[in-house]
Amino acid sequence: MKPVLPHAQLDWDDQGLPRSRVFDDVYFSDLSGLDETRYVFLEQNALRERFAALPAGGRLVIGETGFGTGLNFLCAWQLFEQHAVAGARLHFVSVEKYPLSAPDLQRALALWPELKPFTDQLLAQYVGIHQGFQRLVLDNGRVTLTLLIGDALEQLPQLDAQIDAWFLDGFAPAKNPDMWTAELFTELARLAAPGSTISTFTSTGWVRRLLNAAGFKMKRTPGIGHKWEILRGVFLGWPEEVPTPAAAKPWFARPTPRTGERRALVIGAGLAGCATAASLAARGWQVSLLERHHALAQEASGNPQGVLYLKLSAHGTALSQLIVSGFGHTRRLLEHLHRGVDWDDCGVLQLAFNAKEAERQAQLASAFAPDLVHLLDQPQAEAQAGIALEHGGLFFPEGGWVHPPALCHWQASSANIQWLPHRDVLELRKVDDQWQAWDGDDLLASAPVVILAGAAEIKRFAQSAELPLKRIRGQITRLAQTPESQSLATVVCAEGYVAPARQGEHTLGASFNFKSDDLTPTLAEHLGNLALLEEISPDLTTRLHAQELDPQQLEGRAAFRCTSPDYLPIVGPLAEQAAFADAYAVLSKDARQVPDTPCPWLEGFYVNSGHGSRGLITAPLSGELLAAWIENEPLPLPRAVAEACHPNRFAVRQLIRGKI
Ligand SMILES: Cc1cc2nc3c(=O)[nH]c(=O)nc-3n(C[C@H](O)[C@H](O)[C@H](O)COP(=O)(O)OP(=O)(O)OC[C@H]3O[C@@H](n4cnc5c(N)ncnc54)[C@H](O)[C@@H]3O)c2cc1C
Ligand SMILES: C[S@@+](CC[C@H](N)C(=O)[O-])C[C@H]1O[C@@H](n2cnc3c(N)ncnc32)[C@H](O)[C@@H]1O
Repeated sequence: MKPVLPHAQLDWDDQGLPRSRVFDDVYFSDLSGLDETRYVFLEQNALRERFAALPAGGRLVIGETGFGTGLNFLCAWQLFEQHAVAGARLHFVSVEKYPLSAPDLQRALALWPELKPFTDQLLAQYVGIHQGFQRLVLDNGRVTLTLLIGDALEQLPQLDAQIDAWFLDGFAPAKNPDMWTAELFTELARLAAPGSTISTFTSTGWVRRLLNAAGFKMKRTPGIGHKWEILRGVFLGWPEEVPTPAAAKPWFARPTPRTGERRALVIGAGLAGCATAASLAARGWQVSLLERHHALAQEASGNPQGVLYLKLSAHGTALSQLIVSGFGHTRRLLEHLHRGVDWDDCGVLQLAFNAKEAERQAQLASAFAPDLVHLLDQPQAEAQAGIALEHGGLFFPEGGWVHPPALCHWQASSANIQWLPHRDVLELRKVDDQWQAWDGDDLLASAPVVILAGAAEIKRFAQSAELPLKRIRGQITRLAQTPESQSLATVVCAEGYVAPARQGEHTLGASFNFKSDDLTPTLAEHLGNLALLEEISPDLTTRLHAQELDPQQLEGRAAFRCTSPDYLPIVGPLAEQAAFADAYAVLSKDARQVPDTPCPWLEGFYVNSGHGSRGLITAPLSGELLAAWIENEPLPLPRAVAEACHPNRFAVRQLIRGKI
């Protein structure tokens, strides 16, 4: 288990400037901090000229060691805004071991009134910032910030990106030598795009020599303020004497970057389809969103309330990493929606309803920061939930409930998205470079790129029929709020969940039925849900008068969850199955082989499905992941997590087991 990293511990000097207690160093030199940032980082990387030269649809990727107060990021954003054309994008990736708390960040950034329009947007999105990769979508997607929360040497090796300009800003080398090591500079070189530039405020000789040895050509240049000299450089290429880093396995490699028309079909308008459409639309794509029903969110994504619940593991599994990153991303998107109607951050309490669960919870509480999750004993849990409870549990203060259709509507509202209801796609055909969506003899739409977001229905297409997706029926029960149930103040979960009322109704969920294919709500599953409520809290059961309700009158809805065998979603480009089996047939004899054969991609064909019972957490970030695959951008998740979600994982496993 990794130690939990605290927020930055700051002292404020008599000028109101922050200073790190751990590193005994300043975040920026003094009130000329702004000039210094602009000179050291923006000017030395020629960002004004490079921003001005970006075409519409172009982007520049900046990488930084040490996000700190975000001053460098905000200055870069301001310059970008001043000089880049509409339709160009800025992508900023920054690693930070000790993120500032939100109040500290606000206080530090109040020093720069001229940055206020940018600062305000950053602060509004500075929630849910926890360990690992955290994506922030700013200015309607024109600016993307990916924060890697953790030690630079642990996080950067997980990053898959091509950085055009590096800012090295990790406190003075003498005070923080860990941020200036040969090992870290090797990572900067691995991630550097051809012709990448780099700059830093220090001119320390050994830093310069180590950067040169990593493949950069560094030069001293006159400094500014207290700095006599600083360093700037360019990436010349990977040094010959150093072994080249291992490339991704060909079946997980990036498909050849696309050029030409930026038009896509997204099939299915639940959480996965709407998120995918939103991520592409934010990148300037024209998206046709096809849905068989008359409206968005009519199937699994149509429940009145879903829970933002984090089923974590203390062992840092790919799923657990995905959940922490996905939760942060969804939580930030929700800030754009109407609190109390579309969602509520009332917190989520997971009860320790038996000894095994209590033990699991204790492990989790020590593996994650308390602002993400902490333990409550039974009296504390009761005080938090506002009802009588028999157990304490784990509390997620930033969690809550969401009305999933509201999130879908918000994501599908871009002017770049064409909404096409009543379109039931039965077949996909590739003609020239276009994917055509057909319903019998009717051509519904066509585009060079298609994304399948139809949950388990994607198996109906020949191209994706082999994906191992299963449907699990689930039913929720709607319960009218009573005067006594108004005290319920958080979502409470045991085996089931119940949420504080939305518009006068509580959602109680949910059954799991692996056998039934029928979506008519059943009495048996309503009764099952009431049993789940009784297990959560007999007191709440009484407050809701649940025993006195006529079971025949209970209302609710049922839908299918769609799960994969490893419970991870399926997100990314798809290969042509028969050609794939031929290309990598050798794996059935020797699983360690990595044939040098390029993957036979189905060009322009992608999948976003398999979100199981946690689509609220995984689907929105999967939209960003898919857009990153399509646009050849920095991935919003660690490489290993993106591979764990990759559609090709199943075909590889099958080959290795000799089953194809
Ligand atoms: C009872 C229940 C309770 C749940 N509770 C929670 C919870 O508390 N928290 C949580 O995070 N998650 C929860 N989930 C899971 C969550 O709802 C799903 O993970 C999520 O909605 C999946 O979104 P999706 O877009 O992949 O699928 P869907 O919402 O099912 O959307 C797929 C869409 O594609 C359309 N479609 C399919 N094929 C075609 C085609 N060929 N042509 C045109 N349209 C097509 C369908 O009509 C549908 O609208 C719950 C699910 C259920 C069933
Ligand atoms: C000088 S400050 C960065 C200032 C920042 N660029 C700004 O614009 O405000 C250095 C930052 O590096 C972070 N840091 C120090 N050691 C680190 C490490 N090993 N990994 C990641 N971040 C680290 C510190 O927590 C601190 O926030």
